Amino acid sequence: MGRCCKCNGRLLCMCLLPCMMTGHLLIYVMVSIFVTMSYTPPPKIVIHYIAPGISVNTSTLASHPLGPFWNLRLEDSALWNHLQHALDRLHNPVLRGNTTGVQRKPKAKVSSEIKDESLSDCVSCKCSVPQLDLSSLPEQMKAFVWSMHCRKYPLLINQPNTCKSNDKNLGLDSPMLIMAIKSQVGNFENRQAIRETWGRSGLVTGEASKKSGLVRTVFLLGRQDSSTGPHPDLKNLLELENQKYGDILQWDFRDTFFNLTLKDLLFWHWLQQHCHNAIFVFKGDDDVFVRTGALLDYLHKQWDEHNLMRVRTNDSKRTLDLFVGDVINNAMPNREPSTKYYIPEHFFKGVYPPYAGGGGVVYSISLAMRLKDVSERVHLFPIDDVYLGMCLHKLGLSPGHHPGFLTFDLPETDRGNPCAYKSVLLVHRRTPKEMLTLWKQLQSLPRRC
Ligand SMILES: *[C@@H]1O[C@H](CO)[C@@H](O)[C@H](O)[C@H]1NC(C)=O
Ligand SMILES: *[C@@H]1O[C@H](CO)[C@@H](O)[C@H](O)[C@H]1NC(C)=O
Ligand SMILES: *[C@@H]1O[C@H](CO)[C@@H](O)[C@H](O)[C@H]1NC(C)=O
Ligand SMILES: *[C@@H]1O[C@H](CO)[C@@H](O)[C@H](O)[C@H]1NC(C)=O
Repeated sequence: MGRCCKCNGRLLCMCLLPCMMTGHLLIYVMVSIFVTMSYTPPPKIVIHYIAPGISVNTSTLASHPLGPFWNLRLEDSALWNHLQHALDRLHNPVLRGNTTGVQRKPKAKVSSEIKDESLSDCVSCKCSVPQLDLSSLPEQMKAFVWSMHCRKYPLLINQPNTCKSNDKNLGLDSPMLIMAIKSQVGNFENRQAIRETWGRSGLVTGEASKKSGLVRTVFLLGRQDSSTGPHPDLKNLLELENQKYGDILQWDFRDTFFNLTLKDLLFWHWLQQHCHNAIFVFKGDDDVFVRTGALLDYLHKQWDEHNLMRVRTNDSKRTLDLFVGDVINNAMPNREPSTKYYIPEHFFKGVYPPYAGGGGVVYSISLAMRLKDVSERVHLFPIDDVYLGMCLHKLGLSPGHHPGFLTFDLPETDRGNPCAYKSVLLVHRRTPKEMLTLWKQLQSLPRRC
């Protein structure tokens, strides 16, 4: 054979080629086996446990979500998701383990910036997130991130007596509705128009039912001064306004778009302290128009039905979880850098939970208190409507849609026609002058509408 191969190259090729091919095949099979053996699938987290809500008693718990309500998978490279992920683990009794007994470190790797105390006191602390690289974020986002662990700001102007009854003879010592309107120092005209029209404090009669309810209005303000851009000094003017009307709540933080969430949080704390006897809250902007009478009709109906159920089920502890507005489902973050709602991918990834669009929403006080509690477990988000949606989601609730909340206004052709407002509870947006005109028109709504 050897002698033959020496003399015949073609024969050599013919006998070596199958050997080489078999060798390659053998190596391939061995490598495949090795790879398969060394590969183990990523551990699947099976969730058997739904953490209890804030309340211990089952009668006051929200309806339970069907699945785990928070995504346990970490969207890395998105800052907010990262922080929330750590916070979720911190508050998850299973992942955290029994820390009361064995002095064990939390299993979840919690970076030092997410400590519980950083959520509480931020007047003295520096409120910084030093370990993160923020250079890729736009300016207002940076400002947000630098202060996103701060949520306690002192009140500059308070109204401790808003919900105290001053006239016992009325027999109505609890406000049916407290209207909290987000405003800015400079918007004097909007506030005045609201006071004179749909936001009048006092006893308000419903349109259809003729039932009355006590309404109280407050305006939620931050600080507007040189730190928020060039502003004329309106401090004295604001003081004068507050002396006259006594309906301004002002906190010591910069009143910017990304800080609006703070107004919700701080207002909830104020509610708990000064106005927990109210029944419903309207929270809205100062450029909307509300048909307060019609809204009261709706709320009276909800309240009566709730009380009926309470009697029927013989459950005196039953609370009313109402949250309605113009609900937006499956919204994606805005990725257009030129818009004011721009949320970069470095900051947040994912779909927004169902939320009620800006302009205005109505919810019950008992829900406001639960939102206040659960908000401790949700990191601040720069868009206030979305943040409310996130807190509701965390409670296992979703906002209810009400077709009377027109945050995108009526069709253009109907705007001048008073009859078109018959089934409307809220429209966005109206200038102070338009509010006055519309209010007058709606006072004498023709019967034929
Ligand atoms: C739960 O209800 C029981 C009695 O029904 C009561 O004793 C207990 O204080 C309640 N706990 C909370 C946290 O409300
Ligand atoms: C935690 O550990 C302590 C002491 O080991 C034990 O007494 C307690 O029951 C444990 N708590 C839970 C919720 O397992
Ligand atoms: C929010 O207010 C705080 C306190 O005034 C300020 O430090 C922070 O920069 C503000 N955030 C934004 C996004 O303007
Ligand atoms: C309602 O509940 C109370 C105590 O919770 C009980 O004493 C009463 O008998 C109940 N009434 C009815 C009609 O079930």
